[in-house]
Amino acid sequence: MKIGIIGTGYVGLPTGAGLADLGHEVVCIDKDENKINILQQGKSTIYEKGLDELLSRNIKNGRLKFTSKMQEGVEDAQVVIIAVGTPPDPVSGEADLSYIYAAAQELALYLRDYTLVATKSTVPVGTGDKIEQILRENAKNADFDVISLPEFLREGFAVDDFFHPDRIVVGCESERAESLIRELYAPLAEKGNMLFVNRRSAEVIKYASNAFLAMKIHYINEMADFCEAAGADVAQVAKGMGLDKRIGDKFLNAGPGYGGSCFPKDTKAMAYMGRQSGVNLSLIEAAIRGNDLRQAKMANRILSAACDVKNCKIAIWGLAFKNGTDDVRVSPAMEIVQQLLRNGADLTVYDPKAMDNAKKILQDKVKYAASAIEAAQGADVLAILTEWSEFALIDVNALKKAMRGRKIVDLRNLFATCALDKKGFAYECIGKTTN
Ligand code: UDX
Repeated sequence: MKIGIIGTGYVGLPTGAGLADLGHEVVCIDKDENKINILQQGKSTIYEKGLDELLSRNIKNGRLKFTSKMQEGVEDAQVVIIAVGTPPDPVSGEADLSYIYAAAQELALYLRDYTLVATKSTVPVGTGDKIEQILRENAKNADFDVISLPEFLREGFAVDDFFHPDRIVVGCESERAESLIRELYAPLAEKGNMLFVNRRSAEVIKYASNAFLAMKIHYINEMADFCEAAGADVAQVAKGMGLDKRIGDKFLNAGPGYGGSCFPKDTKAMAYMGRQSGVNLSLIEAAIRGNDLRQAKMANRILSAACDVKNCKIAIWGLAFKNGTDDVRVSPAMEIVQQLLRNGADLTVYDPKAMDNAKKILQDKVKYAASAIEAAQGADVLAILTEWSEFALIDVNALKKAMRGRKIVDLRNLFATCALDKKGFAYECIGKTTN
């Protein structure tokens, strides 16, 4: 099938490359000509494991193309996927739909024969109706359906998640649309992983899922605080909870709070939609409040470990919002670094993939190291903020030799079971009382 994808970000790009790899002819569209030029050379504009190979393989076989011109991308497409951003209003949290509406307005100019328009961007309930209205008003004689096709890719695992989806949720009310989507995803459809619901329910499923996962993370973070007060160990509590299949063992890792371009945005948008509908989504509101306060709490732990911050060198391991990605958008690590800087901290930072993105924000306010050990060189305190596995595998003797002090504040509990205190470190993690 011929597919047009509007938006080549963390959702559009892996989706386009994945669909091309399934055998479809895909054209990815983006207004950012610079981005399109980079992509046309087979270079990915985001870090995602396996994405470079996927791009180059499908550019070479001619199934994956890029353009900054909407018409080129959609004129003979059978399916057009809208994958543009829906950033939150900084105050109300309401999703900004201007990019969605602009894409729909421009797309309408080129709609003629039957086209399936699928919204993959995370959009408030009822947005599908508005997109349909825009297209009807601006493409009076065109034949099309508008469906909701929410995305569940995790950053850092997008390629793997594309080829092994545990669910493909489709919000549509037309049989023609359903059969086209079944053809589009045929190679990925396994028993029971394709769910057809009405459009508004599909829009809610996305928000309700992300908000639930965010709440689950905030819940285990609150349990971590309780465990510290109660002399328990949150990792053991999480293990015990996770054995209950109704709870599940995923997303029970306590940390500095959830971040990224999705959970913070989607929880706030969901809470906003609740308020607009006169429904008090109290659990989500509480998780938002608690999560927003967490980074300050975590920064204070590092500051108290530093004692006299003016005469203390602090090494920071991890800037990305989680392991596996170069993305620092709404990263708890970056928020903690900014809070430490506001307190006059002298920081040397390292992240395996997010340094370039972090430099755009931190500029010359911190020193940059080329490795974890280099960042620890001469440091009095080491703070671990992102759960990169290379940190957990570090040579502890080399670390001891590099550091000037012996304090480690591990906000991802990477060394929680390594008894570092017996190796001469003053080790502190979360959710467990350490001496
Ligand atoms: C999320 C959803 O998982 C995905 O389905 C959706 O499509 C997009 O939003 P993503 O934002 O990439 O994916 O990251 P995710 O892996 O969900 O982690 C989100 C945040 O929660 C990160 O800051 C991560 O460090 C944190 N987290 C995750 C925890 O603190 N503890 C956990 O146990 C899991």
